[in-house]
Amino acid sequence: MSQQASLTKLLPFIRPYKIQIGLALFALVFTSGVMLSLGQGVSYLIDQGIASGSRDALRYSILFFLLLVALVAIGSFFRFYLVSWIGEKVVADLRKAVFSHLIHLHPAFFEEQKSGEIQSRITTDTTLLQSVIGSSISIALRNSIMLVGGTVLLFITNAKLTLIVLLSVPLVIAPILFFGRRVRALSKTTQDEIAKVGGHVGESLRHIKVVQSLNQQQNDSKLFNNMVDQAFFVSVQRIRQRAFLSVVVITLSMSAIGVMLWVGGNDVMQGRISAGDLGGFLFYAIIVAVAVAAISEVMGELQRAAGAAERLIELLNTPNKILSGADALPPIEEAESADSHGVIRFEQVVFQYSSRDKAAINDVNLTIQQGERVALVGPSGAGKSTLLELLLRFYDVDMGRICIYNKNIKDMALETLRSQLAIVPQQPVLFDMTVAQNIAYAKPEATQAEIENAAQAAHADEFIQQLPDGYDSDLGENGVRLSGGQQQRIAIARAILKDAPILLLDEATSALDAQSEHHVQQALEHLMQGRTSLIIAHRLATVLNADRIIVMDQGNLVAQGTHAQLLNTSPLYAKLAQLQFHTT
Ligand SMILES: Nc1ncnc2c1ncn2[C@@H]1O[C@H](COP(=O)(O)OP(=O)(O)O)[C@@H](O)[C@H]1O
Ligand SMILES: [Mg+2]
Repeated sequence: MSQQASLTKLLPFIRPYKIQIGLALFALVFTSGVMLSLGQGVSYLIDQGIASGSRDALRYSILFFLLLVALVAIGSFFRFYLVSWIGEKVVADLRKAVFSHLIHLHPAFFEEQKSGEIQSRITTDTTLLQSVIGSSISIALRNSIMLVGGTVLLFITNAKLTLIVLLSVPLVIAPILFFGRRVRALSKTTQDEIAKVGGHVGESLRHIKVVQSLNQQQNDSKLFNNMVDQAFFVSVQRIRQRAFLSVVVITLSMSAIGVMLWVGGNDVMQGRISAGDLGGFLFYAIIVAVAVAAISEVMGELQRAAGAAERLIELLNTPNKILSGADALPPIEEAESADSHGVIRFEQVVFQYSSRDKAAINDVNLTIQQGERVALVGPSGAGKSTLLELLLRFYDVDMGRICIYNKNIKDMALETLRSQLAIVPQQPVLFDMTVAQNIAYAKPEATQAEIENAAQAAHADEFIQQLPDGYDSDLGENGVRLSGGQQQRIAIARAILKDAPILLLDEATSALDAQSEHHVQQALEHLMQGRTSLIIAHRLATVLNADRIIVMDQGNLVAQGTHAQLLNTSPLYAKLAQLQFHTT
């Protein structure tokens, strides 16, 4: 069966727990065995205890019965404990493996996939697996043993009655399978509907201000109501099928038992079998019926789990397109002696995003010297941010190469490369943690004094002190409790604390008022001291303070020089300067 093929992919995760699995299997077989022998207990109880009319015999058979029950109870404890333990442990291992694979994966992967979908794979799919490994498999195994053992014992007890049971089995199973399939299909639809509803709720609430400012509360409520009604409608259909299923199952199985009692009762009266045999037989018949019902119940779940396992393993097997090189960085002294090669060097770099049909970077050559301050300007979409992302190796170049300290960044360990670079992105990214934790994100072992020094240098200390809990204030999801300029200064403090020799700045002025811009400007000035910096410039001050200005357009470097030179030599720069930097 195909479902086994894919669940076996989980074997590497299950294999480490051989001992636990062995014990669980033992408990499973043990309880099933004792459970089956309970039938003998029933038969003994009736024949020796009740029919014999001896009170002592009744007492002994009850004691024997209770002993078996106690064994089943103890065995069940271990079976349940061990099997659930294995389920939880395997899923925990799988979650860890998937997450630590994902967090190293090339960023382009997350542009191709919906992050919501990946998240649901990690949470929903693993939860499904948890329930399956932790219980469904155990239910299936236990009931398979019961089914086989029960059937064998039925035959041993009474072959004629067994044939009646076996003949009625298809009668009972067919409708279960028929309705069961429908119920499963409908319950999957319900789950999809619920997922949709959940997604919509999350989005509306996350963007509550947009929703309210556009007066869309009523509309969104209506949309939501429709989805809920739809989910309700599907649920009702499923409930109806389920209700039918119970009617059919109860009627058919009880009728079968009735027929059996009638035939068996006649046999007892004619002395062909004992009452105890009939009782024991009934017991086994019920066990077999329950086993069949349970197995058909969990079949669908096993199938869904196989799908979940398949998707998780697929995620785990996604190859990483950005592989770390092995070399560590040469010592910085050596790098300084290699000054003629520059600290950063782009050599004939060509790069195209896979989702685009035009190169974002076209044959770029650029050398930046130790301590140099280079400003990058150009119209929106020119490829400025892409250049920084290539340097960070979020993407690999298609042609040419990028070196830092005269070493191809592809040959460097990713950790070494990125430890040399500090980036302040255009959109500061803050985590839902305290101010102090956000600043120390790149250096969790930083002391409080280091954190406060960095904040002071970033001109952030003053407003942080005024927050209700100072450095221990929570910032909320993506820093919603701070203004744009404040968020940016926290991001700058983070870069200052990281203290890397090369600085990459994607300046943003749009979110800033004059006062915060002044603060941010001073913070950046501090940050750039003694470092090699590559700055995507939006401010006149940055451009004027730069050692060199590079003009980019449509993926090309089109001009370079100082502000005064470029005003004369580059018409594009002159236009940008006039529009963006408000010069004349
Ligand atoms: N992740 C991406 N996937 C596909 N295309 C992208 C991506 N990021 C940027 N681009 C495209 O690459 C070009 C350069 O973008 P970018 O480097 O962000 O420009 P700039 O920073 O100069 O405004 C643009 O045409 C942009 O649409
Ligand atoms: Mg950009």
